[in-house]
Amino acid sequence: MEKSNNPFYNKHYISIDQITSVSQIKYIFKLADKYKKCVLNHKVCEDLKGYTVAILFWQPSTRTFTSFVAAAKRLGAYAINVHGMTAYSSSVKGESLQDTIRSINQTTACDAIVMRHPDNFSSLNASKVSSCPIINGGSGKAEHPTQALLDLYTIYTKFKRLDNLNVVMCGDLKYGRTIKSLAKLLALTGKNNKITFIAPKELSAPTELIKDLKKSIKVVEQQDFDNALTKADVLYMTRVQKEWFEAEGRLEQYEALKHRYVLTRYLASTMKKSAMIMHPLPRVGEIMEEVDEDKRSWYFKQMRSGLYIRMALLKSVIIK
Ligand code: NCD
Repeated sequence: MEKSNNPFYNKHYISIDQITSVSQIKYIFKLADKYKKCVLNHKVCEDLKGYTVAILFWQPSTRTFTSFVAAAKRLGAYAINVHGMTAYSSSVKGESLQDTIRSINQTTACDAIVMRHPDNFSSLNASKVSSCPIINGGSGKAEHPTQALLDLYTIYTKFKRLDNLNVVMCGDLKYGRTIKSLAKLLALTGKNNKITFIAPKELSAPTELIKDLKKSIKVVEQQDFDNALTKADVLYMTRVQKEWFEAEGRLEQYEALKHRYVLTRYLASTMKKSAMIMHPLPRVGEIMEEVDEDKRSWYFKQMRSGLYIRMALLKSVIIK
């Protein structure tokens, strides 16, 4: 059999735990660089011509959904996009997730499925029955492994390094999935990385995660900004995840917590000149618009990384 150095070929990408070496990350970054050039130069790059990608979302999304659709189409693939799985698929009639995945395999003859679903194990369960690779576009409160790669790619674009980074992650570290995946990547890429988690105790990061991270890097937990911002290379803000409070009938608690941390122009002014401010978005008040003009604000540019990284991931799981 022909040998391939593509570590993603014909595999599911459902958890950040599947990234076990920096070389896997570099593989995707290199391909993302190539596609970035194509996109910026309006070059046609039809690496996936003749292939089909099904993009199925059971949860709201702006960035992840549109960037995956754009990524598939820009590579010349046929993209089947269903944003309203919760409302319009046979999930409504009680069909199991696994039967839905089996069905999509058959009805579309797709070569990859990208999915987002409120259940933590959704992508894993889908991968057990799917005849083509599953890419996890967000699973419950647990994982967002494509976001982690695009976040890291954004950090690498600015700092040109993956080690020696002082990263502050702030907001909803309990329900938010992006920080969990990104933190694990940072623990892998550099033993001199440091993460400071800032959250109220009701929203603190899972103990298991902290324990795991501490095996590789320095981790600090605190409830206030204190002097963390002045030392940060990266400030990663997140929103308090209203939907989970709603589901648990605790909206009052959400209201009390939602604006616990707000990045103002004044607070940003205490940060290093070389720092970067990130956010997976959507923001709902935790970064004031007055911060947008700050050259250190990367949260809009960060989204574009998603297009390049997702092009690279689609190509890698489908083609050797
Ligand atoms: C995030 C998500 O869905 O987890 N959004 C995204 O994909 N950029 C963050 C969030 O919803 O807060």
